[in-house]
Amino acid sequence: MNAPHAEELLTLQEIVAAARRKLPPGPWAYLVGGAETETTVKRNRQALDAIAFRPRVLRDVSRIDATAAILGRPSRLPVFLAPIGGLESLVEGGGAAAARAAAQFGIPLMLSSVCQPGLEQTAAAADATRFFQLYVRGDDAWVDDFVRRALDHGYAAFCLTVDVAMYSRRERDLIGRFVKPWRKGASEVSHFQAGLSWDQVKRYKDKYSLPLIIKGIATAEDAQLAVEHGVEVVYVSNHGGRQLDHGLGTAAVLPHIVSSVRGKAEVWVDGGFMRGTDVVKALALGASAVGLGRLCGLGLAAAGVPGLVRALELLEEEVRICLGLLGVTSCAGLTPQHLAPAPPVAEPGVFSAFPHLANE
Ligand SMILES: Cc1cc2nc3c(=O)[nH]c(=O)nc-3n(C[C@H](O)[C@H](O)[C@H](O)COP(=O)(O)O)c2cc1C
Repeated sequence: MNAPHAEELLTLQEIVAAARRKLPPGPWAYLVGGAETETTVKRNRQALDAIAFRPRVLRDVSRIDATAAILGRPSRLPVFLAPIGGLESLVEGGGAAAARAAAQFGIPLMLSSVCQPGLEQTAAAADATRFFQLYVRGDDAWVDDFVRRALDHGYAAFCLTVDVAMYSRRERDLIGRFVKPWRKGASEVSHFQAGLSWDQVKRYKDKYSLPLIIKGIATAEDAQLAVEHGVEVVYVSNHGGRQLDHGLGTAAVLPHIVSSVRGKAEVWVDGGFMRGTDVVKALALGASAVGLGRLCGLGLAAAGVPGLVRALELLEEEVRICLGLLGVTSCAGLTPQHLAPAPPVAEPGVFSAFPHLANE
């Protein structure tokens, strides 16, 4: 069967199915898998599915504005591309392809330090709003070099991912003997990431004015510490369930973190966000932006830049419909009163947001 053109894909589920057909088993397992029993992966979905909506009606929703500001930058949707290492194993052009899609659609991109073709070439590829995410694999001077390069190449914020003190056991990769080229040499320098503490956050804040994002906050206590250190963005994440197994779903911890941050930093979130309704739930809980991890990789794998742009268009349509049916005309109109707890109806899983996928 010929690969469909991106515009022929009418549902996000078709994007997932197209990616599944395109990717060889190793990269597929790498993209979709999680740590050990994948309980955290499932809890991300379970937490989102445990939230129902309380729609308000008769509120003139003939005009809907689903745009947002993310760290003060305009964005077509309140979402951004989460950092993905090794994107080059999923799509030709790797990070540059993601940057082109982000620019074309109009949302920010966060580039991973373990993604090719690297910080400079990705910046040159497209004029997207961009943030840079670093895995610390060297000393302070090594980190400083990355900050300088990020500043020189127009990155609007710097991100430290802090939920990888240890690299987890991703069993799909181990069972499939998938050797990730970008992990080569990582074990020799893993002590740098393991040795991170709030001292490095303080050092960064004392030295640089480039906004700092701490990615991988999963408790209200750590969110509080991040705020005390003057961090601009508390990024609630469990790495898509790829690091600590048996964690809570991010949508379950988000309200506690929002209350502990009390508006002193932006709160971003990711983990299992696959549908427009998922994004709307996070905003109603008080997040200002949602990161797309696997969905970004799936869009790119399905049909390159047009595939990801198409996935974002479909997501946008879902967000707009959800806003309208909730009786609000903009993301700012969402409140926790639009939500209510409810028992999930789906068995949670990495693709449980796509109930018709099984019929593929
Ligand atoms: C294939 C893949 C590679 C990833 N690489 C990185 C990375 O290099 N740096 C990082 O901070 N997070 C990385 N993550 C985690 C994502 O940034 C994000 O936290 C997670 O994917 C969100 O969950 P979701 O995939 O369910 O949307 C990766 C995730 C995936 C799926």
